[in-house]
Amino acid sequence: VDGHWRDTLDRPLRDLRISVTDHCNFRCRYCMPKESFSKKHRFLAMTELLTFEEIFRISRLAVANGIEKLRLTGGEPLLRKGIEKLIADLRTLKTPDGRPIDIAMTTNASLLVRKAQALRDAGLDRITVSLDAIDEGIFQGFNDVGFPAAKVLEAIDFAVEMGFPVKVNTVVKRSVNEQEVLRICERFRGTGVIPRFIEYMDVGTANGWRMTDVVPSREILNMIAARWPVEPINAHYPGETATRWRYKDGAGEFGLISSVTRAFCRDCSRARLSMEGRLYLCLFATVGYDIRTMLRGGCTDQELEEAFGRIWTVRGDRYSELRSLGIAPTRDKIEMSYIGG
Ligand code: GTP
Ligand code: 5AD
Ligand code: SF4
Ligand code: SF4
Repeated sequence: VDGHWRDTLDRPLRDLRISVTDHCNFRCRYCMPKESFSKKHRFLAMTELLTFEEIFRISRLAVANGIEKLRLTGGEPLLRKGIEKLIADLRTLKTPDGRPIDIAMTTNASLLVRKAQALRDAGLDRITVSLDAIDEGIFQGFNDVGFPAAKVLEAIDFAVEMGFPVKVNTVVKRSVNEQEVLRICERFRGTGVIPRFIEYMDVGTANGWRMTDVVPSREILNMIAARWPVEPINAHYPGETATRWRYKDGAGEFGLISSVTRAFCRDCSRARLSMEGRLYLCLFATVGYDIRTMLRGGCTDQELEEAFGRIWTVRGDRYSELRSLGIAPTRDKIEMSYIGG
């Protein structure tokens, strides 16, 4: 009716998250723990990765069929050489009624100062930076490669000065970084940067997730509200990952992402494309649909579009809801660094 493909739960496809590399220069314990991602880990070869032309082609057809938002992820997307060229191409895409699409990136910011100008020139709309702590001991314990939080903060300030809207993603883990929540709020109040506190999720299998590691968003909200008066604000779009809150004193807003305690599958309009061209219909999917073989086999645009539509139309994924019901499958989940978060 509205030009979107709809799945079996009547959810439109609006948002494509594109993972451009499986490499990362961090080894976050909850994502790429050193035990599993050591020198022996087999990362993908260049020829296995989708080329920028292939990513652009898929994106062009996706946008023609109702996708309004593209998010580049990884691994670490800034490790993909020439990523700004891809962004400049994606920038030319318009929705069927002629509006520009929203192009965002999720990054660890380690290369952001070096890349920010090129990203700006290419037309990237906004940036989300992962930062789990400001305390150096805790942050470096998280990334496990000794990368300083101070450098990430510097990169965030730099991006803000350049005019990028910036969000900060903080994964909260019990007894590891709860005390960082208020520090992060404090640090970004009044700056326009929007912190979002994320319940630690059971993505993949390498991180050894346990329910007792999760700090429910409600608890985080209580901590923040005890310090500053806050009030809820409306979602930006249906199926937004975060619930939004603002400080009553006008110092800005923050978000809570509660995929464990309050599943948001009902309106989930996100598909994920892996760096080697597999389409996943859920962050917790166990199988992806191989698009690359079609592309490299010389399919037409129409064939590609039809395949995309067919795949989405039979989708019924709602992992977080099933987890809440205690009936989620737990085996063979794809790792976060592969599927892109
Ligand atoms: P905005 O466009 O700014 O709203 O960003 P976003 O929240 O869609 O994307 P981001 O990459 O910043 O994701 C924030 C957190 O939410 C990450 O931990 C993601 O893994 C998680 N997340 C994003 N999309 C989904 C989803 O569809 N399901 C679940 N369970 N978690 C998600
Ligand atoms: N649970 C919740 N969020 C996670 N991220 C990575 N692994 C997990 C996990 N197990 C976050 C990163 C990044 C975003 C894309 O996903 O911090 O900001
Ligand atoms: Fe790298 Fe992001 Fe995973 Fe950390 S969470 S290891 S920065 S991809
Ligand atoms: Fe969407 Fe799957 Fe996340 Fe639910 S668990 S919101 S269906 S990606």
